[in-house]
Amino acid sequence: MNDKTTKPMRILSGIQASGSLHLGNYLGALKKFADMQSIDAERFYMIADLHALTVWQDPALLLSQTREIAACYLAAGVDPAKSTIFPQSAVPAHTEMAWLFNCVARLGWLDRMTQFKDKAGKDKERASIGLYTYPVLQAADILVYKATHVPVGEDQRQHLELTRDVAKKFNHDFGVDYFPVPETLYQGPGARIMSLRDGTAKMSKSDPSDNSRINLTDTADVIAGKIKKAKSDADVLPESEDGLNDRPEAKNLVGIYAALSGKTAQDVLNEFGGKGFGAFKPALADVVVDRMAPISDRLRDLLNNPAEIDAVLKAGAERANAEAAPVVTETKKLFGLWG
Ligand code: AMP
Ligand code: TRP
Repeated sequence: MNDKTTKPMRILSGIQASGSLHLGNYLGALKKFADMQSIDAERFYMIADLHALTVWQDPALLLSQTREIAACYLAAGVDPAKSTIFPQSAVPAHTEMAWLFNCVARLGWLDRMTQFKDKAGKDKERASIGLYTYPVLQAADILVYKATHVPVGEDQRQHLELTRDVAKKFNHDFGVDYFPVPETLYQGPGARIMSLRDGTAKMSKSDPSDNSRINLTDTADVIAGKIKKAKSDADVLPESEDGLNDRPEAKNLVGIYAALSGKTAQDVLNEFGGKGFGAFKPALADVVVDRMAPISDRLRDLLNNPAEIDAVLKAGAERANAEAAPVVTETKKLFGLWG
């Protein structure tokens, strides 16, 4: 990418402040956020509370959810000394930039977004306009920091393509090389974790069955119980990855084991190929409990201390504002706006 050698890598990502986080969020996003602290980069991790507003949120709950997501960042190992953690709504530059980008992004681009179609459902006349322009705000979140890299789960691929299109069109229309065209980091075994009840559906906050997901707040006993009950099949595990192709539940459970233990799916099959779920599930439960239970313990401690969370968010918001405000000012100048 342009000037990669002279400018440091800038990482930005966010998680929506709606509902509790689960293993999919951990492997698709949080774990990557923490892992990326070992590289030479500037890091911005926000809580997307404005994105949450695109569907109805109870005001009192939204505030506690915002703190809870911040606590999840900290519990997963995101360190405020190395990463700027802040609520999106505390940095006005995001919404200001979103308006400017509403005038760059094209209707046709938004019409193609599958998340809007999924979330709005059949009755799209009644969906909020925010739900439709959601990806434009996301482009603003990223580009207002001139971020170069965005770690997310695979479900964000289309939104990131739109961000890249906004950056390219802006640079082209104004004849500048102002915004980097950011790269999306969704590789890795945790990019798409599926429901424990249905290997063809994404693990999701909105699934009515709590047994479909491992929540970050689940205790060791609850985690072990959910793995025991997870849907599987009657066959033994195959010797090689090809053998997982038509077995979505088996594929997902092997993928979870691999992602949490830092192994490849093939490593896992080298160990468990030829064995049934009676042998695999207890080993999987041990790995998930080992990895997730300390996070849920830390999370519970943090949630008892909202003042500590608020102090992190306040300091993060100050740093984020100082970075983002000048970029909006320069962007407005490029548009020819007064002031
Ligand atoms: P959300 O909870 O939808 O705001 O997602 C927050 C982050 O978690 C995003 O980077 C998503 O791509 C990621 N994510 C959500 N669900 C999953 C999943 N089932 N597997 C992997 N990543 C996920
Ligand atoms: N849309 C993302 C999600 O649902 C959350 C998000 C908002 C985000 N702004 C972002 C992710 C900017 C990465 C970069 O997961």
